[in-house]
Amino acid sequence: MLRHALESQGFVVVEARDEQEARASLAASLPSVVLTDLRLPVGDGFGVLRAAKDADPDLPVIVMTAYGSIQDAVAAMKDGALDFLAKPVDPEHLLFMVERALAQRRLMSEYNLLKEEAARRRGMPEIIGESSVLRQTIQSVQRAAGSDTTVLLEGESGTGKELFARALHALSERGPGPFIAINCAAIPETLLEAELFGYEKGAFTGASQRKPGRFELAQRGTLFLDEVGELPMPLQAKLLRAIETKRFERLGGTATIQVDVRLVAATNRGLRQAVANRQFREDLFFRLSVFPLTIPPLRDRPSDIPLLARHFVERTCRDLGRRTLTLSDRTVQLLSSYQWPGNVRELQNAVERAVILADGDALRPGHLNLQAGAIRAVPPADPWESIDLDGTLSEAMARVAAEVERRKIVRAIRDAGGDRGRAADMLQVGYKALHSKMRDLGIDADARG
Ligand SMILES: Nc1ncnc2c1ncn2[C@@H]1O[C@H](COP(=O)(O)OP(=O)(O)O)[C@@H](O)[C@H]1O
Ligand SMILES: [Mg+2]
Repeated sequence: MLRHALESQGFVVVEARDEQEARASLAASLPSVVLTDLRLPVGDGFGVLRAAKDADPDLPVIVMTAYGSIQDAVAAMKDGALDFLAKPVDPEHLLFMVERALAQRRLMSEYNLLKEEAARRRGMPEIIGESSVLRQTIQSVQRAAGSDTTVLLEGESGTGKELFARALHALSERGPGPFIAINCAAIPETLLEAELFGYEKGAFTGASQRKPGRFELAQRGTLFLDEVGELPMPLQAKLLRAIETKRFERLGGTATIQVDVRLVAATNRGLRQAVANRQFREDLFFRLSVFPLTIPPLRDRPSDIPLLARHFVERTCRDLGRRTLTLSDRTVQLLSSYQWPGNVRELQNAVERAVILADGDALRPGHLNLQAGAIRAVPPADPWESIDLDGTLSEAMARVAAEVERRKIVRAIRDAGGDRGRAADMLQVGYKALHSKMRDLGIDADARG
C-alpha cells in the first residue's frame, strides 16, 4: 500500500523485509529517505536507523510505529530519526512527510555548501583601502600569487605584512594547504632552530618526544617567516640551505626530509642595510627578495584612514552587538591628521577603544586617545572643512549660528574693553539680551577674548 502511494508520485522504492536486508540495500544504493517500521521480523528499526546514520548522518529516517507505542518513537527520534508515523499509516500523511524530508535534505546540503564557501572565503582576508599605492600593492600580491616564487614583504610594523602574506597564500594554488607563521623575533634564539626544523626524541635535554618543525607543518602550503631580519647568522646559513635544496634534517636526526613549501618573509627594517652591516647574509637576502613588495606606512596614504576607521568601527560594533556608530567630521579630520606611528594596528586599537568608550550615536574626537605629539599641524585648510555637519539641517545650522554668536560677542566685549553696555551698543542688541545670550553660550562674564 505504501509502495503504491509513493510510486504514484514518481518515487523509486526499494523494499527490505528486515534489518539485514535493509543494511544490504543501504550499502548497495544510498536512498534519499529511509522509511522503517520499528518492529521487524529480524532485528529492528533502531538497527536500520543506526545503519542509515552510519551511511550518511544527514540521511532522513522516518519510523513507523504501532498506535500506543509513542515511547519507541520518541526513543528513535532521540537516536536521530527525523519524524514518526503512527500505524495505520495514512498515505497522504506519508507523502507529505517524505516531501518535507527531501526538502529539508536539500536545504541541508545547500547550507553545507554555503558553509564551505564561507570557510573558503574566510581564508582570504579582507584588505581595506582605495589609495593608489595600496591598490598597486594588492595587484602585485595577485601577480605574485600566480607564481611560486619567494616573496619579501617590507614595511613598518602594523602596515599589514602578515595580512598580505595570508592573502598571497589564499590566492595562490596552495590556498587549501596550510599557512604556517613563525616570528623570528619572538622566539628565543636557542629555540628557533628547533621550532623551524623540528627535533628527534633526545636531541637535547627536554626533547622527550619527536616534534615536527614549522617547515614540515607547512608542507604543500606557505611558510611565513616574520621579522626575518632578526634571524641569527648560523640559522641564516641553515635556512638558506633548506630553501635551496628543499631538504633538511630534524635536530638530532639523520633522515633527510623533503618538503614542498613556498616561502614568504617579512621585515620591518631595511634588510639591505643589515646586509651592508654584515648582520644579514647577502646570499640569503637575494634568495628571499626574488619578489620584493613594500607596504607603505599609513601616513603616506591618508585617504585609506577614513575607510579603515569606518571598517573597524563597523566590525567592533558588530562584535559588541551594538548599533553602528557614525564618525563625526571632526573625528575623521583628527584621524586623518594623525601620523599613526603604529600604522593600521594602532588605528584598529584606537578605534576599538573609542567605540567601547563612546556612549552616544557618534564617535567624537574626545573618545580617541591619540598621542598629542603625533598629531600633524594641519595647514590652514578650507574653513568650511572644519564645520561639523553632523545631524539634521537645523542642528547643524544651530551649531554654526551659536559659534558665530559666541565669537562675535567675545570680540565685542574685548573691543569694548570689558564694558558690556558698549558691547551691546556695538552689536545693536539690548543689554538684557546680551546678558542672557552670554549665559546661554557659557561666556565668562569677565571674558576679554
Ligand atoms: N589594509 C588593511 N585592511 C584591513 N585590515 C588591515 C589592513 N592592514 C592591516 N590591517 C590589520 O591591522 C593589523 C596589523 O596588521 P599586520 O598584518 O599584523 O601588520 P604587520 O605584520 O605589518 O605588523 C591586523 O589586525 C590587520 O588585520
Ligand atoms: Mg606582524
